[in-house]
Amino acid sequence: MTSLERLLDERLGAAFTAVAGEQVDPAIRRSQRADYQADAALSLARRLRRNPRDIAAEVVGAAELDDLCETVEVAGPGFINLHLAASALERLLGEVLGDERLGVAPVPEPEVVVVDYSGPNAAKEMHVGHLRSTIIGDAAVRLLSWLGHQVVRQNHIGDWGTPFGMLVEHLLDIGESEAAHELSVGDLNAFYRAARVKFDADETFKERSRLRVVQLQAGDPTTRRLWHVLVGESKKYFLTVYSQLGVLLTEADFRGESSYNDQLGPVVDELTELGLLRLSDGALCAFPEGFKNRDGEPLPLIVRKRDGGYGYATTDLATIRHRIRDLHATRLLYVVGLPQYQHFEMIYEVAREAGWLRAPVRAEHIGHGSILGADGKMLRTRAGDSVKLVALLEQAVSRAADVIAVKNPGLDAQTRAQVAQAIGIGAVKYADLSTDRSKDYVFDLDRMLAFDGNTAPYLQYAHARICSVFRRAGLTYPVTAADIRIGEPEERHLAVQLLSFGDVVEGIVDSLEFHRLAGYLFSLAAAFTNFYEKCPILRAEEPVRTSRIALCDLTRRALATGLGLLGIIAPERM
Ligand code: ARG
Repeated sequence: MTSLERLLDERLGAAFTAVAGEQVDPAIRRSQRADYQADAALSLARRLRRNPRDIAAEVVGAAELDDLCETVEVAGPGFINLHLAASALERLLGEVLGDERLGVAPVPEPEVVVVDYSGPNAAKEMHVGHLRSTIIGDAAVRLLSWLGHQVVRQNHIGDWGTPFGMLVEHLLDIGESEAAHELSVGDLNAFYRAARVKFDADETFKERSRLRVVQLQAGDPTTRRLWHVLVGESKKYFLTVYSQLGVLLTEADFRGESSYNDQLGPVVDELTELGLLRLSDGALCAFPEGFKNRDGEPLPLIVRKRDGGYGYATTDLATIRHRIRDLHATRLLYVVGLPQYQHFEMIYEVAREAGWLRAPVRAEHIGHGSILGADGKMLRTRAGDSVKLVALLEQAVSRAADVIAVKNPGLDAQTRAQVAQAIGIGAVKYADLSTDRSKDYVFDLDRMLAFDGNTAPYLQYAHARICSVFRRAGLTYPVTAADIRIGEPEERHLAVQLLSFGDVVEGIVDSLEFHRLAGYLFSLAAAFTNFYEKCPILRAEEPVRTSRIALCDLTRRALATGLGLLGIIAPERM
């Protein structure tokens, strides 16, 4: 399949290389002044000590672009402006029409990619940080699978460690059935807090809790059974949230901290043999190269605590070893909030020093910012608790239902419920994914649910509008072949947008910056809106009519596919 940007890149790249006598990246990008612009002459001029405009002119003379561009001109200090030829747009769009993947081929060499995401903590409320990780991780899973990679989902839930001694003791105190009830109705925080209060106030409870952890780790059957009750109820609760969100995580993807229990000792032994560990204050620590504390001293990563217990860091050393050695992954993604940046960098460095993490394998922390309340602080309830995710999502869906009831009162109840779900959940996901993931954003349902602006409903509406054009005309989609005619400027602009779908999708594979895909979909929908307003479709004369119907369908497919990669459903009516 032909990618427009790749074609331009090849042709101009060859010309630049001929002029410079060395390999040159033409630095092509979309531009306001032309369709595309290439800037490489400027940096090349500095290197070759020549005038950038002269270089650009020479490149333009040498480049074979006749079949793609109408005009190619040197502008400003030495930019090359490329105006695409209508005939090229027509030809390329004709090819894309026949391809259900919109011109995006699966990767020739699929990788095994592990995506670690969501990772809530058992017997605790899932908080908005877990929501972000779940949404971003889900988009990563969808994108990478669509491109043909073999994706392994891993939900690293916090289901092990000292708190579970205290939680099991509390469960015994209140009785199993009462505990199961509290945990299943989702009042997880109350359960946790009650246990904590006793732990802090009551010395005998504290002692019982301590013994309980030892029993848990030793595999005492009763303790294990009670622990199972706790974790089982939590998993059920997490699965409810996942199904409400419509993410791909399933029961089979839970691979919590507890599942690494047997590997912790061997991990520590291996690191010891490699000479990577030292005792510090009674704790066994790694001191990965390049990490210093405020006083400039080497920063420890605690691998075994003074009391002999293992912690979060040890578990993550086990995850990285397991994923490389046993799962044979070559790309490891850890989708976790930015505050854990240093934790992961230290883990990766230790894994490199241990020889586990070696090229071509790479590990990446896909960090994200927080979700803020209207007050600009971490989203919390008035009482200061973390917000209940289920309630938040239900609110988004019910608000979406209100909006639709007004916009489209004719929808039957069942369709309305489905559409409300798609819009409410889509709005929450889109607000997240359209924000640069390293930034915080404010959770504002009004803005998320607006039908104008860079929102899910705006994109979903553009999609539904196209579906309705087809319905009204009694036409079916997809349109897989047509003679495309590009005449009006709005058609031209839409055509260029449509042809960059693949470039945008492929452009985010490494960075996983989903806001770039979101921004693209938004400008595509805007280009479609302009086209729809200026260019009659069904009333147009043939062959323009058929061509415009095909443009509509390509837009519909690009929107549905793009939103689908973000985990967002595009309903056919709304
Ligand atoms: N349970 C952790 C938390 O709530 C997140 C787990 C992330 N994944 C990992 N491999 N450490 O902070």
